[in-house]
Formats: sequence, structure tokens, C-alpha cells
Amino acid sequence: MDRDILDTNEHIEDEESSLRPASFDEYVGQHDLKENLRVFVGAAKMRDETLDHVLFYGPPGLGKTTMSMIIANEMGTHIKITTGPSIEKTGDLVALLTSLEPGDVLFIDEIHRLNKVVEEILYPAMEDFCVDVMIGKDATTRSVRIDLPPFTLVGATTRAGDISAPLRDRFGIVAKLDYYKDEELRDIISRTSKVYGMTMEEEAKMELARRSRGTPRIANRLFRRVRDFAQFYGDEIITKDRTMQALDRLKVDNLGLDDV
Ligand SMILES: Nc1ncnc2c1ncn2[C@@H]1O[C@H](COP(=O)(O)OP(=O)(O)OP(=O)(O)O)[C@@H](O)[C@H]1O
Ligand SMILES: [Mg+2]
Repeated sequence: MDRDILDTNEHIEDEESSLRPASFDEYVGQHDLKENLRVFVGAAKMRDETLDHVLFYGPPGLGKTTMSMIIANEMGTHIKITTGPSIEKTGDLVALLTSLEPGDVLFIDEIHRLNKVVEEILYPAMEDFCVDVMIGKDATTRSVRIDLPPFTLVGATTRAGDISAPLRDRFGIVAKLDYYKDEELRDIISRTSKVYGMTMEEEAKMELARRSRGTPRIANRLFRRVRDFAQFYGDEIITKDRTMQALDRLKVDNLGLDDV
């Protein structure tokens, strides 16, 4: 229980997946980015093509993974999820790429942590939908080209500066996620409280929003703790008073900073 309640890096996948919006309409905020993606997805579908490769960057917990899943949903395709550091050998990536169905989304989280050799396999895969693999040993070594189904690579990173230029240049769509406004976080908290079947005073939502450091992941996590207090004390609805009391006891101050 020593986990810092305001740590954006801590994922709790089970809890998060139940709260992930599944469509553009449900996704709160990031207005410009969302409306542009709506156009790109819509146009790709009209042409019966795959969506161009997408790179999302921005601080943790702002909705990069969520948006990547929405893209697959809205395209009507499947998503395969992996992370940069988990692809150790070129063979791992080739296996992943050849297992895709036409139109699938391959999501690589922490894409800045791909190793160089693996990254170089991605270049022709992204550009020409093919990979060159070496087979045989020593004198008999030769390179064989394998065609891939057309796919969309969606990469996400918290460290855009760590992505090499050749990789970055192969993404047709590059989008930055920004911190959320308090009103947007309030709407996210509204949605979360509905998912959990709880009623919450408007002022309570706003108070929680203000203390969430612009980050949906923090808003949802604080909501769950406030809900614990409300349920423990037998409240019918989550009031502003209970919210303030809970946040004080969690030592979350007005700016959403804890005592460290
Ligand atoms: N726009 C949004 N609307 C509603 N909920 C959101 C939104 N963005 C994020 N969330 C919620 O915040 C949680 C964290 O979002 P997500 O995992 O997509 O962030 P991330 O940017 O991928 O973070 P990381 O960089 O740590 O991987 C999700 O479980 C989701 O419920
Ligand atoms: Mg993520």
C-alpha cells in the first residue's frame, strides 16, 4: 500500500480497462487531435485503405493507449499490443508482423525503447509492408523478402525526443497529447462514477478534477479512493465534503500535489 496515489506511471490494467472509452464520442478532451483522427479514420475507411501510421506522445496517463484502442475500434479492426523493450530480437518482431491480418493495428508502447536492430526491421515494414530476413549460415546466408499484410503501426511514447529521426519520419500522423482542463477531467470523473454506479455531487467532481494534475489516470485513481471513503461511511451519494475529507486524508493538496 506504499504506492503513491499521484504517480502517473503506475498502471493498474484491470481497473483501467473497464474505464477506457471505446469510441471517439466517449473520449473526453484532446479536441483537435480527436477531430483530426476522426477525419483520417473516416477517409481511410471510405477508400478502403489502412490508416497511415500514428505516433502519440505526451506525459503518462493522458490517454495514448486508450486512443490507440479507439483507432482500432473505429477502423473496425483488431489491435495487437506490445512494448518496445519486450521485443528483444528481430525474430520477435517478424513473428508479430507476419501474424497480423490485413488492416490490423500494431500498437507498440514505449516505442522509444526499441533496440536499434529491431527498429531497422520496422522501416521497410512501415514503408513497403515487407521485411528482409536472413536465412542460412556463413557462406550460404541469404536475404529473403517476406511480404506483410497492410497494417497500421501505432506507436506511443512519453519521450518523443528519444525517438530516432528515421523512425519518427515514417509516421504519417504525429500527435501530442496535452494535459486536460479541469472541466474535461470533471466529465471524465462523471463517466467514471457512472461506470461504478455512484452518484456524485457536481461540486465534488470539480474538486476532484482540480486536484488531478490534468491527468485522467490520477482523476480515476483519486475517484476510487474517494468512493472508498463514501462507501465506508455509508454515504448515499459522494458529497463535496466527503471528497475534501478523503483528499485531505490522502494528503492531496489543492494543486494535486502530495506532501513529497
Ligand atoms: N480522454 C479520456 N477520456 C476518458 N478517460 C480517459 C481519457 N484519457 C485517459 N483516460 C483514462 O485514463 C486512464 C489512463 O489512460 P491511458 O492508459 O490511455 O494513458 P497513456 O497515455 O497510455 O499512459 P502511459 O504513458 O502511462 O502509457 C485510462 O484507463 C482511461 O480510463
Ligand atoms: Mg499507455
